[in-house]
Amino acid sequence: MRLLGIESSCDETAASVVEDGRRVLSSVIASQVLEHRKFGGVVPEIASRRHAEAIVGVVQQALDDAGTNIKELDAIAVTAAPGLIGALLVGVNFAKGLSFASGVPLVPVHHLRSHVAANYLTSASLAPPFLCLVVSGGHTHIVHVTDYTEFRVLGCTRDDAAGEAFDKAARAMGLPYPGGVFLDKEAELGNPDAFSLPHPSVDGAPFDFSFSGLKTAVINLIHNAAQKGDELPRADLAASFRRAVVDCLVRNVTAAMRETKERRLVIAGGVSANSLLRRELERICGENGWEFYRPELSLCGDNAAMVASQGYYEFQAGRRAGLDLNALATMDIQLDFEA
Ligand code: KG4
Ligand code: ZN
Repeated sequence: MRLLGIESSCDETAASVVEDGRRVLSSVIASQVLEHRKFGGVVPEIASRRHAEAIVGVVQQALDDAGTNIKELDAIAVTAAPGLIGALLVGVNFAKGLSFASGVPLVPVHHLRSHVAANYLTSASLAPPFLCLVVSGGHTHIVHVTDYTEFRVLGCTRDDAAGEAFDKAARAMGLPYPGGVFLDKEAELGNPDAFSLPHPSVDGAPFDFSFSGLKTAVINLIHNAAQKGDELPRADLAASFRRAVVDCLVRNVTAAMRETKERRLVIAGGVSANSLLRRELERICGENGWEFYRPELSLCGDNAAMVASQGYYEFQAGRRAGLDLNALATMDIQLDFEA
């Protein structure tokens, strides 16, 4: 079964053709990152306009690269929530038009569910149940994935997402957007014990996260030093900050693995590219005899292959959207789109 995936939730316009949810026939990503870098973050209005310009060419390229055409598709999967509303609407409306014109069924996909599915493309044998740490720019969740379309949230962040904390700390350190990637590289050169930073936890909620205090602590350190005319060693600061974020993620996900007695741990989302997070979880899983799965680096960030993969499983579960499908800026991963 062949699905076209379409993704436009943030600043990547992407399309991909995937067979049976597992085999990528093509994957095209038009990134706007250089344009948003000038502003230090994504400018939603610009993102929507660029999606509108790019989407036709990106979808055509994905079909051409896969050596297929619309008539040979079994379904069109599109990211419909959550994300920047104007950005999402471009992909959703394009997918609806394509479905209307071709008669190919439309399948709505939750963005975070698709990040989880990036692992099905990387690891052919992976199947639910498993525990998944979903860490992106906008979300930080510990999710029990009991089936391909069944998700139970065990914990989430009470304030900033891990990616957001990385980006804001990186910006204060003078690193370019998207900060998480650059902070990760900088941290490789520094000493993680150089600065003592808080490791916030949430009282009575061992699987929940809080990153805003940690983010503020590092920003205050930088500003206080600047006021005295000092410059802190950036690599040491980056290494100490990365260490603190990763410690919090590892601490809670380890507790959730013990509580659920799951044997498989999966990570997903942009921050799953973080090199320390990958190393630490690999080690912890090794020590506990748990299997560890992570997406290949090219599939950690936003892409449409993961949308087509999750779309395949949603399609198999009978999920469809009508031509009245709307985009939603926020949506619980546990909920299904209404047909
Ligand atoms: O999943 P994603 O591509 O977009 C959202 O759905 O939000 O995640 C983007 C986030 C950004 O905050 C980016 O800085 C972060 O993922 N990120 C990283 C790394 N690579 C990307 N954070 C830490 N370390 C990385 N290597
Ligand atoms: Zn994402």
